[in-house]
Amino acid sequence: MALTLNETYLKGFIAENETEKIAHIAEAAFDLVKTRSGAGSAFLGWVDLPVNYDREEFARVKAAAARIQKNSDVFVVIGIGGSYLGARAAIEFCRSPLYNNLKKDTPDIYFAGNSISPSALSDILKICEGRDFCVNVISKSGTTTEPAVTFRIFRSLLEKKYGEEGAKERIFVTTDRAKGKLKEFSTEKGYETFVVPDDIGGRYSVLTAVGLLPIAVAGIDIDAMMKGAADAREKYLNAPIAENDAVRYAMLRNILYNKGKTIEILVSYEPAAQMFAEWWKQLYGESEGKDNKGLYPSSVVFSTDLHSLGQYVQAGLRTMFETVLDFKNASDEVVIPDDPVNIDGLNFLSGKTLHDVNRTAMTGTLFAHNDGGVPNILIEAEKRDESNFGALVYFFELACAVSGYMLGVNPFDQPGVEAYKKNMYALLGKPGYEEQKAALEARMN
Ligand code: PA5
Repeated sequence: MALTLNETYLKGFIAENETEKIAHIAEAAFDLVKTRSGAGSAFLGWVDLPVNYDREEFARVKAAAARIQKNSDVFVVIGIGGSYLGARAAIEFCRSPLYNNLKKDTPDIYFAGNSISPSALSDILKICEGRDFCVNVISKSGTTTEPAVTFRIFRSLLEKKYGEEGAKERIFVTTDRAKGKLKEFSTEKGYETFVVPDDIGGRYSVLTAVGLLPIAVAGIDIDAMMKGAADAREKYLNAPIAENDAVRYAMLRNILYNKGKTIEILVSYEPAAQMFAEWWKQLYGESEGKDNKGLYPSSVVFSTDLHSLGQYVQAGLRTMFETVLDFKNASDEVVIPDDPVNIDGLNFLSGKTLHDVNRTAMTGTLFAHNDGGVPNILIEAEKRDESNFGALVYFFELACAVSGYMLGVNPFDQPGVEAYKKNMYALLGKPGYEEQKAALEARMN
């Protein structure tokens, strides 16, 4: 595990004394995390999770994954937000965005219950037809509408296909240790359950059973992932801020934010990291976007998006900075062949690898965007693998907590998420929401 923060492309945007000036604020924010004395400190379980996880449950996760691999063609993961993004990010990051289409001896994995789209659900239901499948429903609260409705549909399908007893063997539930409808229901039915720890919120939960079961089903080495996170914890939790890249990243984005760079774009040159960016967007968006404050987290995959959003980044409103994930070594190598006729004029690339060309595109873009007034922070990793996934998760979680405290918000709540839910419940006629329903209807007329 080795992540490096490279500040080469911040030259001219941040002077060295600017970090010194806010060092005391960063120090205080970091202390709030370490001493567990800041807002939302009841949700700091992720800080020690990489070294302090439930070994018995970890073994059960592996055993369940092995059973699912054996008895299923398809594994359906039902969850939304923090109850799905991390697992999907890990599978695409460590295996491939085309995981389901690749030759493999592990089940296809589909993510359901992360929208209310009937088409999205119908497609997955069709994919399950005539194939053996298992379901993992993940919801900390056990009450979130999207996964709850989706689970009802899959449960009834499983019971029809395998009978109540057979379905029981194919339903895995990840939820609160003791409370919530889903927990009550699972106990009654006798489903195998896994725990979302009380002190870990959804968006910080990828290294709990929430993420680990789907990740293990995909055949990914979860021991290596936890080790990567544990190494990162050792490095970033103990280093003084002057030598601490996670805290430094929090400081740099805070400085840029205060200079009017209110949008942060997470950039990668690997489509395999696209879902990682979705996970990162939830982490930062939900943690910091409150009290009318916070950077707006966005993402792109280059060079793909250089041909769409690239124009805006180069020359639109100067309100953004980029954080680039740079994987120095390729996971796969493709060499550009020579063409004796050189009909396409591309022989200057003969013998080069696509990885070299990709990284050259990155260097060219870094300079171009700098010239266009866009600061760039580089986070370098040796390669995309389990260990670096675990390390990046820990790095960004710690930086997010420090950054949230520097901003003066509680990085562990998400009160804003409730607003749409209340309106939706009222409009759908959920008991207890009658007054709100009447108020909304009055606004419609
Ligand atoms: O980070 C969070 O807490 C949220 O995004 C939740 O993960 C999301 O709302 C799903 O909640 P639950 O797991 O309770 O269904």
